[in-house]
Amino acid sequence: MSACPWQLQIGPDPEAVAEQVAARLLQDLLRPMGQPLGLATGRTMEPVYAALVRRVRALPAAEAEALRASWCSFNLDEYVGLAATDGRSFAAFMTGALAVPLALPPGCLQLPDGLAADPQLEADRYAGALRRAGGLGLQVLGLGLNGHVGFNEPPCGPEAPCRPVVLTAITRQQNAAAFGGDPEAVPPLAISLGLAEILAARELLLVVTGAAKATILRRCLQEPPSVAVPGSWLQHHPRLTVMADAAAAAALMPLRLAPD
Ligand code: GLP
Repeated sequence: MSACPWQLQIGPDPEAVAEQVAARLLQDLLRPMGQPLGLATGRTMEPVYAALVRRVRALPAAEAEALRASWCSFNLDEYVGLAATDGRSFAAFMTGALAVPLALPPGCLQLPDGLAADPQLEADRYAGALRRAGGLGLQVLGLGLNGHVGFNEPPCGPEAPCRPVVLTAITRQQNAAAFGGDPEAVPPLAISLGLAEILAARELLLVVTGAAKATILRRCLQEPPSVAVPGSWLQHHPRLTVMADAAAAAALMPLRLAPD
């Protein structure tokens, strides 16, 4: 069997995992290395950002101020057709989870513009802005039930660039809670960074919690990469750390534990 480059850190529950991820994000934010932080949305990230907010608030004032002043992040994706002020947009999620509680300066949290008249042009603009900012440094990722990362829906190969994507039925079902429980109310189209931009990140942090994702996590990490499971292309990234709770990691064997 060939050597696997990824590392695994397991926490007992989603809260413990969130603390581990927040600690890693804070480390990066306190010592920015000239590349933007890549951020994700979704329920997995809610406790992560809550933990990050607590940690930033506990910093000495000068350190917290320096962190605010240097903050530069790019999110993975946004729904097409939703304004940043629409409570169901990912922009609103980020505003509520981080920008407001941390009093971040306007504009430092970047996302694709869901209201852009031409989604393809907006995807090109967003990819260009990310390139000019130096490409992704540390990218935090959640995992969709169908193996998507960002909104890279299957089938998806490793060369896929930032682009408008058609969402699958399973994803619209998975994200329906924010839309009154109705999958049909979930926008059918989104703009997402591609696997190309994600795989070019300096470092990847895949965060997976809950028993429902145990099988797809195993398929991502321990089956050969395939277009059927977009997250499976992550497994050969030279710096991939998987942070999972015990339930999500339950189907993985054998375990490789990262040093503390
Ligand atoms: C969403 C996002 C992904 C996210 C994933 C998992 O649709 N586009 O970036 O990681 O699906 O979501 P959750 O954490 O809610 O399970």
